[in-house]
Parts: sequence; C-alpha cells; structure tokens
Amino acid sequence: MKLSKKLMAALNKQINLEMHAAYTYKGMEQYFREEGYPQYAHFFNEHTKEELKHAGDFKTFIEEVDGHVEFMTLEGVPTEYASPKAALEAAMDHEKMISASIISILEIAIEEKHYAAENFLRTYVDEQVEEEDLFRSVMDAMKHAGEKGAAHFNLGQILKHEHEED
Ligand SMILES: [Fe+2]
Repeated sequence: MKLSKKLMAALNKQINLEMHAAYTYKGMEQYFREEGYPQYAHFFNEHTKEELKHAGDFKTFIEEVDGHVEFMTLEGVPTEYASPKAALEAAMDHEKMISASIISILEIAIEEKHYAAENFLRTYVDEQVEEEDLFRSVMDAMKHAGEKGAAHFNLGQILKHEHEED
C-alpha cells in the first residue's frame, strides 16, 4: 500500500501540524499559568499530550505503509493573549484548521483510492468532532463562570471526559 509522494507529503505535514498544536497549547498553558488560571493551565498541559499522541499516530501510520517520515521546522508560538477568552478562541480556531487539514488529506486518499489511508484518516475526522466539542465545552465553562470566576472554576468534569476518551 505504497503512498504517493503527494499523500506522503500531506501526512508528513500533518505530523508537523499536530506538533505545532502541541507547542501552541504549551504556549496557552504558559499564558494561563502566568495569568493565574491553574485549572486552564492544567487542561492545556493535558491537551499538549493528546496532540503529541496525534503526531505519533500519523508517524506510525506512515511507517506502517513503508513510507518515509519527515520532521519539519516548528514555528514559535505565543505565550501571551489579549484575554483568556481570546486564548480559547485561538485554540478553537486552531482545531478548526486541523480539521480542515485532515479533510483535505482524506480527499487526496479518496482520490488516489488509498483505502488504508482513507480508513486511518476517517478515524481522525471522528477525533476532530470530539476535539471541537471539547473546546466548545471549555469555552462554555469560561462563558458561564465569567473570566474572573473561571480562575477558580473546576474544569474537572471536562478533563474527566477527555481522559475517558484516551
Ligand atoms: Fe490533534
């Protein structure tokens, strides 16, 4: 099930995007830590691990179909945001960008009739539905608590939900 150059390049780029997501969430963790929102900092630290796992899954898939893995340059990420709400909106936008990227790779796999890649990528379409839903829950939690209340808000339930999916 050899990968075409185009499909392999797209999958390698996705490793980079997942690593970039991990780094971005590490930056958000730092922002929330410095602003005094330990629960949110903890959430983003946990989510960094999730993104590293995603990068690992793409790497493993490329290996399993006898492709070649590339680790591309990682860009720097912010550790400052205009507000806690702005940081969460940026996280949501990032997830939407990841979803769009996965769908564009899935379209290549379908076009090339690479069914193994198609199956793998479809599991990631489902994963992204969960990711966007999770970030919406975190945004709702902040909306209901207000930015000041959110500093003490217990995100435990949301984190528990995330862990159950691991
Ligand atoms: Fe991801």
